[in-house]
Amino acid sequence: MRNIYPNIIKFNSNNLIKIIKILKKDGIIGLPTETVYGLGGNAYSSSAIKKIYKVKKRIKNNPLIIHYYSFNDAKKDVILDRNFYKIYKKFSPGPITYIVKKKRNSKINSLACSNLKTVGIRFPKNIIIRKLLKKINFPLAMPSANKSSSVSSVKAEDVFEEFQNKVKVVDGGISKIGIESTVLNLVGSICILRPGKITPKQIESILKIKIKIPSRQNTIRSPGSLKKHYSPGIPIYINKKRCPKKHAFLTFGKKYPVTRNCFNLSKKSNLNEAAKNLYKFFRSIKNKGYKKIYVAKIPNEGIGIALNDRLKRASS
Ligand code: TXA
Ligand code: MG
Repeated sequence: MRNIYPNIIKFNSNNLIKIIKILKKDGIIGLPTETVYGLGGNAYSSSAIKKIYKVKKRIKNNPLIIHYYSFNDAKKDVILDRNFYKIYKKFSPGPITYIVKKKRNSKINSLACSNLKTVGIRFPKNIIIRKLLKKINFPLAMPSANKSSSVSSVKAEDVFEEFQNKVKVVDGGISKIGIESTVLNLVGSICILRPGKITPKQIESILKIKIKIPSRQNTIRSPGSLKKHYSPGIPIYINKKRCPKKHAFLTFGKKYPVTRNCFNLSKKSNLNEAAKNLYKFFRSIKNKGYKKIYVAKIPNEGIGIALNDRLKRASS
């Protein structure tokens, strides 16, 4: 049988050598993480960073997250304070990105940080990306592996759908969490710029201070969070009790009908399951040709805060 995904490659020791070769030559590649798939390139290489922006069609003032194996590697490029270490100890490697100050002699390409004095750094937990990060002597700049304004990828085939033959993708199965990392700003007043699996409550319990999620108008610090984002490209209406048959209905819990146009994020009312299904359902609803999506109310707690954030942005 003909391989319909010639660019999707397995992760094995032979391919690991190939992947490293691509990255060392300033190439870019789709890679799995526990949140969503990323489009990775050498964070120290201007040529790799330019390719990432170009392939994603991303605006230059939206900085990339830099991925490291551990804080030991990161501290060459950025300034890490006590608050950072407290949270790192508890949640990294894992689904959280820290906005920290860039060192003056940092090797991170300035375009990757949109010329800001701060950098978003993350230590992903996925075993494949960790094995890779351990083997290379540079960090990976890695935005989500989707075209700007599209939906993040949660499996290798999604990355192929986004970029076709433009990049290779390492197959790591379905992303465990399914929604992008929490972005925590640690410079100036501490706040969450993008909610995710790690919640404000969890951070509050460690830092013993109130953690706010500033409203979108104020989040100039995270330019990517301003514009319409995370959208499947069709109108979305949130907090709906019912939905016309011709439109797709994204539901949550067991009180909703089981009709052809209903896509239940979690029959068990499990928010983690719902997060894992959100982008998967966005993609399949769009591919099925629906023109509108209605969404039922989703509890605004735990990872539900992140779900509602993405839904709100997709609907704006
Ligand atoms: O889970 C994730 O974080 C995934 C995986 C691949 O790691 N990556 C991801 O990257 O979601 P991206 O580029 O799609 O989103 C990065 C977000 C953007 O909203 C960007 O504005 C923000 O992080 N960001 C990056 N650097 C920043 C900085 N220095 N200051 C404020 N926001 C920053
Ligand atoms: Mg993204």
